[in-house]
Amino acid sequence: MNVLVLGSGGREHAFAWKIAQSKQLQNLYIAPGNAGTAHCGTNVNVAVNDFEGIKNLVWEKDIDLVLVGPEDPLVNGLHDFFLNDEVLKDIPVIGPKKDGAQLEGSKDFSKQFMIKHGVPTARYATFTKDTLGEGFSFLETLPPPFVLKADGLAAGKGVLIVPSLEEAKAELKSMLMDSKFGSASSKVVIEEFLKGIELSVFVLTDGKSYKILPAAKDYKRIGEGDTGLNTGGMGAVSPVPFANEAFMKKVEEKVVKPTIEGLNAEGIDYRGFIFIGLMNSDGEPSVIEYNCRMGDPETEVVIPRIKSDFLDLLQGVATQTLEQKEFETIPETAATVVLVSGGYPGTFEKGKKVQGYHLIDESIVFHSGTRQDGEDVLTNGGRVFAVTSFGTTIEKAVNKSFIRAEKIHYEGKYYRKDIGKDLLG
Ligand code: AMP
Ligand code: GLY
Repeated sequence: MNVLVLGSGGREHAFAWKIAQSKQLQNLYIAPGNAGTAHCGTNVNVAVNDFEGIKNLVWEKDIDLVLVGPEDPLVNGLHDFFLNDEVLKDIPVIGPKKDGAQLEGSKDFSKQFMIKHGVPTARYATFTKDTLGEGFSFLETLPPPFVLKADGLAAGKGVLIVPSLEEAKAELKSMLMDSKFGSASSKVVIEEFLKGIELSVFVLTDGKSYKILPAAKDYKRIGEGDTGLNTGGMGAVSPVPFANEAFMKKVEEKVVKPTIEGLNAEGIDYRGFIFIGLMNSDGEPSVIEYNCRMGDPETEVVIPRIKSDFLDLLQGVATQTLEQKEFETIPETAATVVLVSGGYPGTFEKGKKVQGYHLIDESIVFHSGTRQDGEDVLTNGGRVFAVTSFGTTIEKAVNKSFIRAEKIHYEGKYYRKDIGKDLLG
């Protein structure tokens, strides 16, 4: 098979790394890819939202399957574009159509979906600029802190958690009246704050059956001890001790099954990943959000823990035979530590020369934001590498990644040294 992976981050490097190991693979292309993916297949300089460019590439390279990494092209209708095109219509796209991608593309849609299909989630209401006053009244009924979410995609920045009622009202006004997040905040979801510990659960579905992939815990804040600004993710661990068999059973029964059944009931033929961000509140799962893709950096621990042929699983999605596919995981713990550019998630410089990334040892160095420049590899993003290692314990896995991270050099390198610490003991 000839496969095309869309995207350029650590998630896509992990996909490419795994697909490259499949016996069923002939040629692998990554668009646009990064300096790491170039070692798994051929990078092609086509952007993920350039639908015509993707069409040409699929045609030229005789692609048999397209795996979409990020949410943007899915929310923008890449899968629908394929289905509506004479040349592309029979080429499977792994990732939902526009209707399914709304699970991530609209917070209001996803909250309505959860309530309608009995998926546990925080109490909420949605407001527009015409109902600002009602929004203020709703805020007054909630205990602090206050959670405000821009309805649409806002590059991961659309969720605000504010401590006081005054600030919450000011933020609501700024989101609705001053378009704080552009058109993404023309609707705002306000919801109850959930206490507990977060977990990322990943489901691969062909619309009929599903496989629950290894769960992971992500570390979102830039600073140690979960302090400072939110980032795309600074590290991840899988498996997660509190996501034990009993808890995961509840997740399957109360969250995964009603979600899949709900999609069917809505007539949404969903083929791809569902990333369920949930809170474990005193042993009960409550869904914070859905995403229509895999998580990053969670993919960098989830994918290495899949023992089975990943391309075979994707083919199962494409042909709606997922139920018959073998799905085995590796029980050992995988941990990833993300190396970022100095200044991230604020302003940072790109183009710093990297050394020590290619040393061969037990860890896997996934590239998140790099580019090849002649002989050199240069930093090309806020998140630069995700260093994944296995261990018999979280501590051993994380420590291996820390040791490996020390050997990678570029100006401004930073990483959190407390990944996984909260899960110990
Ligand atoms: P999201 O962009 O929806 O993932 O939200 C970003 C982060 O905000 C989540 O990962 C949670 O840490 C936090 N968050 C979102 N909604 C809630 C909630 N209802 N209660 C507590 N924390 C939340
Ligand atoms: N790691 C969280 C995300 O991918 O959204």
